[in-house]
Amino acid sequence: MADDLRTVLADDLRTVLADDLDRARRRSQLLTDAVDDDDLVRQHSRLMSPLVWDLAHIGNQEELWLVRDVGDREPVRDDIDHLYDAFKHARADRPALPLLDPAQARAYTRTVRDKVLDLLDTVAFEGRPLVEHGFAFGMIVQHEQQHDETMLATHQLRVGAPVLTASPPPATTVPVEGEAWIPAGPFTMGTSTEPWALDNERPAHTVDVPGFFVDRAPVTNAQYQRFVADGGYHDQRWWSADGWAHRQRADLTGPMHWHGDGSYTRFGRRGPIQPDEPVVHVCWYEAEAYAAWAGRRLPTEAEWEKAARFDPATGRSRRFPWGDDDPRPEHANLGQRHLAPAPVGAYPAGASPAGVHQLIGDVWEWTGTWFDGYPGFTAFPYREYSEVFFGRDHRVLRGGSFGTDRAACRGTFRNWDYPIRRQIFSGFRTARDPLPGEAA
Ligand code: AVJ
Ligand code: FE
Repeated sequence: MADDLRTVLADDLRTVLADDLDRARRRSQLLTDAVDDDDLVRQHSRLMSPLVWDLAHIGNQEELWLVRDVGDREPVRDDIDHLYDAFKHARADRPALPLLDPAQARAYTRTVRDKVLDLLDTVAFEGRPLVEHGFAFGMIVQHEQQHDETMLATHQLRVGAPVLTASPPPATTVPVEGEAWIPAGPFTMGTSTEPWALDNERPAHTVDVPGFFVDRAPVTNAQYQRFVADGGYHDQRWWSADGWAHRQRADLTGPMHWHGDGSYTRFGRRGPIQPDEPVVHVCWYEAEAYAAWAGRRLPTEAEWEKAARFDPATGRSRRFPWGDDDPRPEHANLGQRHLAPAPVGAYPAGASPAGVHQLIGDVWEWTGTWFDGYPGFTAFPYREYSEVFFGRDHRVLRGGSFGTDRAACRGTFRNWDYPIRRQIFSGFRTARDPLPGEAA
């Protein structure tokens, strides 16, 4: 995304959008071309769709919003909408549907994309809220990138010889230890100006946050291993009632993909757990239990965002911890460039003014907050993106992972999931209140 899409010329916006659409499509192709047709139609886990469903669903959403709504053009395939409506069929039921086969799904997404690029040449970006600053195109870019991350999670669940390769994350690190103090005071949470922000990030509003301490880095494998070694999974004291019930029912003994012998498997390769990497594939209940064991708690969503965005020198909220520039490779581990979280301390250029590191990229971070609308929330452009998920079912995750593209990651970006979910690239950091007399 350009640094300020609110002021770019229409033709520059067309170029930005074409590039972002293309980057998303190359990622979708890489993830689906990596395996054979049999693998594409198979369900690798009941938690996930077959990859070929994600692919055609990406094309179908693009057709619905851009070809039909923005472009007001003839449908490409209006007979298949129901197959790719995420609300009509649960993931577990999708393999049994009469889905497009891999060749048909590829041809369909290509046909839709050609019509969209044609539309992009001439579309007017003024006059309709849906297209202002390219919003609908940006929404579709983010949608495809979100499914690319979901497809990457499917790859992680897939059993078989490795098919994905990437360069390892940076190994050079600076020491990052302990916690940072974030002083009490109001800050601006959410946004009313970020052009492609989704409805759940809006509007900007003031939140007064009491002073708190927050970990300068996500919790690492080494730290988490101490919780495991200390019997944390067998000690009910650290778990909430719901968390303990889930721990028992699901027989949790460590993060997903750990084998119990100090090794783990990532994208089909087994190797030793890396001590200084952020822990990943833990559910909210595990994060909650670890924090209790450590004498701490999860940060609230507002605390997380204040740690990530508040600039004490100006009192304003930044787009990212490092400032307002879009993420570059030196800032954060994003975009599936590396198929692993980077060790703690690998991104000094991405730190916040208070010295909090790796808030963006590496692993999604669970927060203590239920997913809900901000004061003044209005659903846009459809209730099913966010609003139907509000309430006490989903916990908020922040910051994006190594699997998240920069188009779908901002200081204000909100993700959510059930507290039992851990096939996503989820980790966490912890926080605490000041002790009496401790607050600076
Ligand atoms: C925001 C990641 C929870 O995958 O369910 C994809 C994104 N919405 N298609 C999801 C989404 C519609 C969403 N998450
Ligand atoms: Fe979707």
